[in-house]
Amino acid sequence: MCKSCIPRIPTDMGKAEAFAGQMIQTINAGALSAMISIGHRCRLFDVMAAMEAADSKTIAENAGLNERYVREWLGAMVSGRIINYEPKNQTYELPAEHALFLTRQAKEKNMAAITSMLPVWSKVEDQIVECFEKGGGVPYEQYGRFHEVMGEISQASVGENLTELVLPNFPELEARLKEGIQVLDIGCGDGQILLTLAQAFPNSRFLGIDLCEEPIAGAQARAAELGLKNLWYEARDLLDFKTIQNFDLITAFDVIHDLAFPDKVLSLVHSWLKEDGLFLMMDIHASSYLEKNLDNPFAPFLYTASTLHCMTVSLSQGGMGLGTVWGEEKASEMLLEAGFGNIRIERFEHDLLDSYYFCKK
Ligand SMILES: C[S@@+](CC[C@H](N)C(=O)[O-])C[C@H]1O[C@@H](n2cnc3c(N)ncnc32)[C@H](O)[C@@H]1O
Repeated sequence: MCKSCIPRIPTDMGKAEAFAGQMIQTINAGALSAMISIGHRCRLFDVMAAMEAADSKTIAENAGLNERYVREWLGAMVSGRIINYEPKNQTYELPAEHALFLTRQAKEKNMAAITSMLPVWSKVEDQIVECFEKGGGVPYEQYGRFHEVMGEISQASVGENLTELVLPNFPELEARLKEGIQVLDIGCGDGQILLTLAQAFPNSRFLGIDLCEEPIAGAQARAAELGLKNLWYEARDLLDFKTIQNFDLITAFDVIHDLAFPDKVLSLVHSWLKEDGLFLMMDIHASSYLEKNLDNPFAPFLYTASTLHCMTVSLSQGGMGLGTVWGEEKASEMLLEAGFGNIRIERFEHDLLDSYYFCKK
């Protein structure tokens, strides 16, 4: 063992014991997150939210699942204080107050959907460890269900909330969308946000572009199924997108910090907009300074998201590796450098994770 690897002697054993307790809580929280993700995917929370207290057999039957697995999962949920247990009758109940944050019906409040990102990231742990040793990154293709999970989370948090809660604050933009304008969504992923917009504003024309073919194929199939005539998707790198068309509105939902070359893309976005056009960028609410993020309740999650995905997909393309927590100071600086002269940053009550940047030329 190298000399520098010999641990320093602790002087405060009370502090050490308290930290051991913190670690036990952390291990349990991590384990519970993994089980919550399973509960979400198996729709156990959705099923239990609609049921009175019941035994494991009834819950498993209602969910169409194997009772032995459901019973073990319930053990984790009960000891994790997520589900109540009545030992006499061996019945389980999901409190309505907890269901408010665990079911699909809860939409943007559904934190169970967010836990499904952890197993997606864990899938590439071996590659990430190699990156710690040798640098480089991990490309999107290796993340398995990433686009599916991302699409579900962003549709729940942005989706209808964009048309119902965000756009009404911008009556001029809303009026233009109703009248009919050209809209481009960059890094559209599985395209669900654009699908909602295209249905809400049938006179406007929407184009979604994403680097990855798999989510675009799904997006195209969904748009075709709905017979939407004002919506198109293309799989391509934004840096290769050549357009003679000027857009009235360009949107980027949780995209810029993932890009290999965000500086170049922001300049392109500026050039693709009409003189009176608007760039709407939704990105993570954080500061560019670690010390200012310590009171952000999502900070450990955000730095984890960055290391296990956002920074890393960018670095896999030889990119800047901005990271999820590039923060509002850096974002404003880069938007100004790209040529945007008028930047307004807004927060909305329904979205605890993000800030909305309204940028004019
Ligand atoms: C975090 S996801 C957000 C997806 C979507 N906007 C949403 O909210 O669900 C970032 C997306 O940016 C896409 N992307 C990354 N680099 C890109 C590039 N150079 N050109 C086009 N899309 C890119 C990724 O494929 C991914 O779907």
